[in-house]
Amino acid sequence: MVVLISGTGSNLLALIRASNQPGCGFSVKAAISNNPQAPGLDRANQVGIATAVVNHRGFETRQDFERVLQSTVDAYEPDLVLLAGFMRILGADFVSHYLGHMLNIHPSLLPKFTGLNTHQRVLEAGEREHGASVHFVTRELDGGPIIAQDTVPVFENDTAAVLAARVLEREHRLYPMVVTWFAAGRLQLRDNRAVLDNQVLPPGGMPVESVLEL
Ligand code: GAR
Repeated sequence: MVVLISGTGSNLLALIRASNQPGCGFSVKAAISNNPQAPGLDRANQVGIATAVVNHRGFETRQDFERVLQSTVDAYEPDLVLLAGFMRILGADFVSHYLGHMLNIHPSLLPKFTGLNTHQRVLEAGEREHGASVHFVTRELDGGPIIAQDTVPVFENDTAAVLAARVLEREHRLYPMVVTWFAAGRLQLRDNRAVLDNQVLPPGGMPVESVLEL
């Protein structure tokens, strides 16, 4: 796996930790960031994972940036590319190149709250439930087939920061779980649908109760 990050890298660390467990079936080859200041780069280095930076600011166009990003990723020959707090929108060519081999984790119960600032927007909307989703990356922003979701309650006096931390804890459990399925050959993208164990997953992905049983 190659993991793309832009910031803290706590999901990256959760994935690395999971990859060190016996029988998980995957390894993290590199962490690549568009942001040279991403704290996740240091965290990866500290645990012996290769890192690279492809700074989007150094390119005239998104296509130029993505061409270099793609060759940097491909140098590691990954079976799967994981977006983990990667905060750049990816263009059609890049997405097509990895179609079926690129996942994203998003801090909301998709299809609700695509885009940024999800926790604040959930509070403003008065939602009673929130969570995280893992999905295949397709050309539709945060819109690819959902593989699995985990749900947390929203309490009256929550702040965005408190809610973000509650969701993040679930992300750290959810993402490695889904990656393990992919590594075991159980998960595919077929006809723009997520398929697990030859069963098309429902639109909201694997129901949370079933995720926890696996
Ligand atoms: C995570 O909450 C992830 O779901 C979110 O950014 C955070 C990264 O944290 N991703 C997005 O918002 C993508 N649109 P991390 O760097 O500590 O893993």
